[in-house]
Amino acid sequence: MLATRQLSSHHRPCRLAQTKRVPLRVQAISAPINTGAGECPLFQTRDGKIIPAMCADYGFRSGSGRLYQEGYGEVPKDVWQLAKDNYVHEFTQLRRSTRYPPADIAPPDGAVAKVLHAGGAAVARAFGALDKALEGAGVLPELAPPPVMSALETQEFKQIRAKLDKLELSVSDVIAVEHARIARTGDMASPAWVKAPFYALCFVLDVMYPKNKAIEKFWVLETVARIPYFAYISILHLYESLGFWRAGAELRKIHFAEEWNEMHHLQIMESLGGDRAWFDRFIAEHSAVFYYWVLIAFYLVSPRMAYNFMQRVELHAADTYTAFVERNRVALADIPPPLVALQYYYSDDLYLFDEFQTASRGVPGVPPRRPPCESLLDVFTNIRDDELEHVKTMVACQESTIAKDIAASSSSGGAPRHQ
Ligand SMILES: [Fe+2]
Ligand SMILES: [Fe+2]
Repeated sequence: MLATRQLSSHHRPCRLAQTKRVPLRVQAISAPINTGAGECPLFQTRDGKIIPAMCADYGFRSGSGRLYQEGYGEVPKDVWQLAKDNYVHEFTQLRRSTRYPPADIAPPDGAVAKVLHAGGAAVARAFGALDKALEGAGVLPELAPPPVMSALETQEFKQIRAKLDKLELSVSDVIAVEHARIARTGDMASPAWVKAPFYALCFVLDVMYPKNKAIEKFWVLETVARIPYFAYISILHLYESLGFWRAGAELRKIHFAEEWNEMHHLQIMESLGGDRAWFDRFIAEHSAVFYYWVLIAFYLVSPRMAYNFMQRVELHAADTYTAFVERNRVALADIPPPLVALQYYYSDDLYLFDEFQTASRGVPGVPPRRPPCESLLDVFTNIRDDELEHVKTMVACQESTIAKDIAASSSSGGAPRHQ
């Protein structure tokens, strides 16, 4: 009768309220959290407020390997077992993506995108025919069609899915927000070799994702958004190990807090179904590995330019979320927040959340940022504001003052301030 979940971690920020709603149970791939009508988790904030959470987890990984859910906090298996599990699982999904392509992909707008879309569909059809032939010849095992989810879907599950599918992200909206920002505050300066990879990244994503694939686009963006911070940490660690440079240890803490924040953005997009398509997972995960080495090279050659590049990326992320929030404000306000967002923004332990707010953390008279999280509108507004915090930190990192300021504030008992 009660919604008290078995909590597996020693540090568990979530409080699920004592209600008629039943415990969180998650099933693989876009499953409702509970199968009974009206049985959705409720979340109790630190102040005792009850907030209904989203009923379902729409992600590919729902239930396995997801933060705060089953298996959370466990030690991984060995790499061979993990790789085998993943490739076996993904191979089936790859076959399904060619034989049973998603029916909800709208044709894109631009000419280049249209050509790529048609070309991609033709390649997928050819692979689908090949797969069928190999299956007929007994080379490949018989492929079951994708599971029919309707038997599991509650009314609320379907309603929210339908609302999520209506969310839109328009490239022209993002450009308008960007132009307005530049008119207000001026453009940032970067050398051409920093601008080139940034604009290439934006162009590819804009071409690949039509406006009705907002969550998918955000998921891809957030997958790669964490990578620079991980690259910076790797190099700082290497310098410490080699004895080259030890004065940047404070930076590693900030970059880890930023990466932890981006990981929650990613998990939020996953819970909204951003990683459902095999192609999106393939692109994002392989790009992330490539991107890591690019950022490693950037940081080795010029840490300042690596931070400059990341300032551009974070500004673009903030502009994109701003445009998305403005266009979908009414729809977002009507959708409950996913559980992972509630767990993060209402956590009992906000040390890492505070750690990346380098512009205001510990400043006398400035209260710590404690944003509300009562709807998907709050969630996306919070993410946008997080990105703006990352921008400020990247600016401070280019000024080479941040580590020094933090060290000084630690010894004086205060905290750094950056504008
Ligand atoms: Fe992010
Ligand atoms: Fe970011």
